[in-house]
Amino acid sequence: MLAIKKARTFSNKENFIVLTDKFSNKAGYGFSEKEQAYISEQINKQDKKLVALNRLNQLILVLIVEKNKPLYQQAEALRKCGSCVANRLNEFKATSVQLYSEEVNPSLILALTEGIVLSNYQFIKHRSTAAKEKNSLNSIQVYAGAISEKDLNELAIVSEATCHARDLVNEPVNVLNAVDLAKDFQQLGKKAGFKVEVLNKAAIQKLKMGGLLSVNQGSIDPPTFSIMEYKPKNAKNKKPYVLVGKGVVYDTGGLSLKPTTNSMDSMKCDMGGAAAVACALYAIAKAKLPVHIITLVPATDNRPGGNAFAPGDIITMYDGTTIEMLNSDAEGRMILADALAYAKKYKPELAIELSTLTGASAAAIGHLGIVSMGTADEKTHNALKRSGENTYERLAEFPFWEEYDELLKSDIADMKNIGVGFGGAITAGKFLNKFTDYPYLHLDIAGPAFINTRESYRIKGGTGVGVRLLFDFFKNV
Ligand code: BES
Ligand code: ZN
Ligand code: ZN
Repeated sequence: MLAIKKARTFSNKENFIVLTDKFSNKAGYGFSEKEQAYISEQINKQDKKLVALNRLNQLILVLIVEKNKPLYQQAEALRKCGSCVANRLNEFKATSVQLYSEEVNPSLILALTEGIVLSNYQFIKHRSTAAKEKNSLNSIQVYAGAISEKDLNELAIVSEATCHARDLVNEPVNVLNAVDLAKDFQQLGKKAGFKVEVLNKAAIQKLKMGGLLSVNQGSIDPPTFSIMEYKPKNAKNKKPYVLVGKGVVYDTGGLSLKPTTNSMDSMKCDMGGAAAVACALYAIAKAKLPVHIITLVPATDNRPGGNAFAPGDIITMYDGTTIEMLNSDAEGRMILADALAYAKKYKPELAIELSTLTGASAAAIGHLGIVSMGTADEKTHNALKRSGENTYERLAEFPFWEEYDELLKSDIADMKNIGVGFGGAITAGKFLNKFTDYPYLHLDIAGPAFINTRESYRIKGGTGVGVRLLFDFFKNV
């Protein structure tokens, strides 16, 4: 990943970016009169927000902050701008760039840097031409009095964690199965200093996690249940926060097989929630935030193999609830229910669960945000929404009315695993809520976890959504 450093000196002989809200040509830039006139013309007459000076061995970019929007929207505009900047620098074959910031809001300087770093991400390790295709840009030096080394270090950590979550999502199931995913978490724990315990199939059987085991029945690979804990001495919270992530390493739909045309192509992304919660914990531990967090990831693939669970089956879950399983493509809630019931033993202050759970949530708001719902108090939900704006991983809250509970009633078991024709994202959340007895927020990331076309700094493929959101939330609790 792109290295981020605080610069002590500024050289106008190397590549640089000027970030400003009013271009005033500080003497130190070394522009000739002609260049200066060109820049002023572009900004004042042509209303350009990005002006490039392409010298023989030096690329200079002048960026103008648009001030007529709320700060979080200005920040997002600059992250997007970071994508153009990274492209220009890579086309120029630049290896390094300095960011010179005039007196703009520090959060905007960080947003531009973040946009550049996240845009520079590539997933090309499986291409034989990878070495040739690798972006040239490998370091950015930030020259801005308002930004501390700590700010940049945190930004580097969260960006690294986001890129790692993208990697995990982008790896296909023939490279990354449930066991591989758990091994990856163990490495993350070693690197950042948190505990990781991985329950294997025998341990999961012993615990009678019927939801996770039922989804795994059609697979020849065993399931895993990862328990990660970060507990610093200076933790602010008495009761732990719990994070839960859906770790379906591939979702074929099982016997309720997904139709072939396109609907299965990106289903390696069905562990996007697991990647988000594990990588968020990695960032939190590495940045040493003073919060006690436990992260749970149930993981398996969902396939129509030999003994696959069949629609109509009655499954006894970890907490003893019986489920009439009527659609094996609603598998996420089966494995998550066991994890949420398991979380009761920690008496959480709050549990946040992230999952690529329903096509219905993606149909409702697309990739533009995260569908949220739950039982946590309004103050907590609002705090997470604020983090959603800060990071532009926005939350759209859905209703959680009790009438939706009715839709899950079964005649022959305690509950069905699917609802009726409407409110599919909500009945999924309602199903999960039955397994909690603590404040709970359910985040459905089926829309934003994976995108088929690049959206500026969100590269095509896994987006790493959730990592930045959770880090911002726990930084501010
Ligand atoms: N993994 C899918 C949801 C999904 C869809 C994720 C699109 C990412 C992009 C989930 O397991 C699923 O198939 N859900 C079903 C539930 C239905 C059978 C009640 C769905 O949404 O169709
Ligand atoms: Zn499914
Ligand atoms: Zn799924």
